[in-house]
Amino acid sequence: MKKIDVTTTATLFDNISQLSTEDAFLMDKAVEARQKAYAPYSKFNVGAAVLLDNGEVVLGNNQESAAYPSGMCAERVAIWKAGSDFPDMKVKKIAITAASENSTVNKPVGPCGACRQTLSEYEINQQQPIEIIFMGEVGKIIKTESLLSLLPFSFDSSYL
Ligand code: THU
Repeated sequence: MKKIDVTTTATLFDNISQLSTEDAFLMDKAVEARQKAYAPYSKFNVGAAVLLDNGEVVLGNNQESAAYPSGMCAERVAIWKAGSDFPDMKVKKIAITAASENSTVNKPVGPCGACRQTLSEYEINQQQPIEIIFMGEVGKIIKTESLLSLLPFSFDSSYL
């Protein structure tokens, strides 16, 4: 028996102005998407912007339902919209931002576990990493160079 260390690497930015032009542009798009979220129950508005290889930007935001579990996260709305409209395009990166109507979200909001799993399907299939950039409403921003770096020991089709 031996212990194994699983490590991940991310870059921490103080604010949007420290991001590359492309990443800052995408984060602005995620903010735009966030402002159109439908989250009357949680009042936690999330926006996601997916940048494809062909330069296309696909937006998504969380969509809630009075039957709570029937809602959907911003990241999955965006990635499924991208997969549905542009099935042959690779995903370069996704920017995510969240803001609450109850308090100021001042720390980076990473994708939930189910969204990580969903995004991993696309990263594995395209054999090219998807960069993940996430923030709250204000404050620091985290960027990872791939989705799988956020999902160690993940499940994939090789088990089936
Ligand atoms: N939410 C997202 O859109 N993305 C995440 O990664 C975490 C949570 C949404 C789901 C729900 O509408 C609200 O945030 C509160 O959980």
